[in-house]
Amino acid sequence: MSAFDHWDALWRIGRDTTTGGYRRFAWTPAELECRQWFEEEARRRGLEVERDRNGNIWAWWGRPGPSAVGLGSHLDSVPDGGGYDGALGVASALAAIDLLKARGAEPSRPVALVSFSDEEGARFGVPCLGSQLMTGALDPARAVGLVDQEGMTLGEAMAAAGWDPGGLGRDDTGLGRLSMFVELHIEQGRGLAEDGAPVGLASAIWPHGRWRFRLRGEANHAGTTAMDERHDPMLSLARLVQGANHEAHRCCGVATVGKVHVEPNGTNAIPSSIDAWLDARAPDEGGLDDMVEGVRSAMAQPLAGGARSVEVVQESYTRAVHFDDALRDRLRATLGDVPVLPTAAGHDAGILASRVPTAMLFVRNPDGVSHSPDERITDDDCHAGVEALARVVEDLACR
Ligand code: HGY
Ligand code: MN
Ligand code: MN
Repeated sequence: MSAFDHWDALWRIGRDTTTGGYRRFAWTPAELECRQWFEEEARRRGLEVERDRNGNIWAWWGRPGPSAVGLGSHLDSVPDGGGYDGALGVASALAAIDLLKARGAEPSRPVALVSFSDEEGARFGVPCLGSQLMTGALDPARAVGLVDQEGMTLGEAMAAAGWDPGGLGRDDTGLGRLSMFVELHIEQGRGLAEDGAPVGLASAIWPHGRWRFRLRGEANHAGTTAMDERHDPMLSLARLVQGANHEAHRCCGVATVGKVHVEPNGTNAIPSSIDAWLDARAPDEGGLDDMVEGVRSAMAQPLAGGARSVEVVQESYTRAVHFDDALRDRLRATLGDVPVLPTAAGHDAGILASRVPTAMLFVRNPDGVSHSPDERITDDDCHAGVEALARVVEDLACR
């Protein structure tokens, strides 16, 4: 995509040249490079840059202050993710400000462009970490102790990057400056493609959560252990994957086991234990709870030859989000009768919605693919997104 001049510098950061996917995990060198890119692009535009105590970066058009209009998204990625999830929202907000300035617009109220920290939770396991901490949805004592696969805590990772982890937690003062928040994001689905519309608005976010299943077995030799003498957690993992799939169909939700950690992970060794993460989502909380309960009870049943024990920990749970009707209607008044559609993808805007009137502006994703190197967008749709965001900001902040 060559829609923005500033895109080229970002596009290369953290990209795996073999797969074409991105690895921009929170507080790793690639993600720190993204942070630096954002701060440089903001300063180049004369925006005042501020780092808040939860790892989020704010760039102000106009004096920082109350009744601000918030824009932005995130720069971190899932493993081998696409280049537009999150990054498009941040780059488009910069481009929208460029457009408004070129048209001679001036903000009559502050405009805050926010790059939220660790939206994907790819390294420490909890999604929307920066926005959850800021709104008070996540306990800072739990957050600072979250551990990555190498055993490093979030606190250590932030400190190693030169950010003080000592101030994590609810930030009413910082958040209180926002009177509303609008997040532009590539649609993670085909709704707009099927409607033939370049941009649309979000109505809601499905409730969703993450559960870690720890399946403990008995390590032993793959060749010399009789089949009826095994306690193989892989059998229990197979039940988890099948059970999640079955329950998702039964409850009209979606369930995924996308991350598995096997110990000792040897070809000729029966595993001693397996950690497997369930990502589950449904149109409503009753359906989600029913689905997860179905999986848990299936895993509680005895399984001959399977794990000796099954331990389940809920690592995150995000309630259903209904975006602000009045703000959505105001955006529709500006943009025309663009499609309004729900999503099962989580976003920082969904977290902020509990504290601030929030809206989401979706940009067409031709194939609907996301969390994959194949995620793509057309230049025309990218420009349509920026134009729409600029018109929204002009209406909300430049009158
Ligand atoms: O997982 C999600 O829904 C989002 O991409 N973080
Ligand atoms: Mn994502
Ligand atoms: Mn995202």
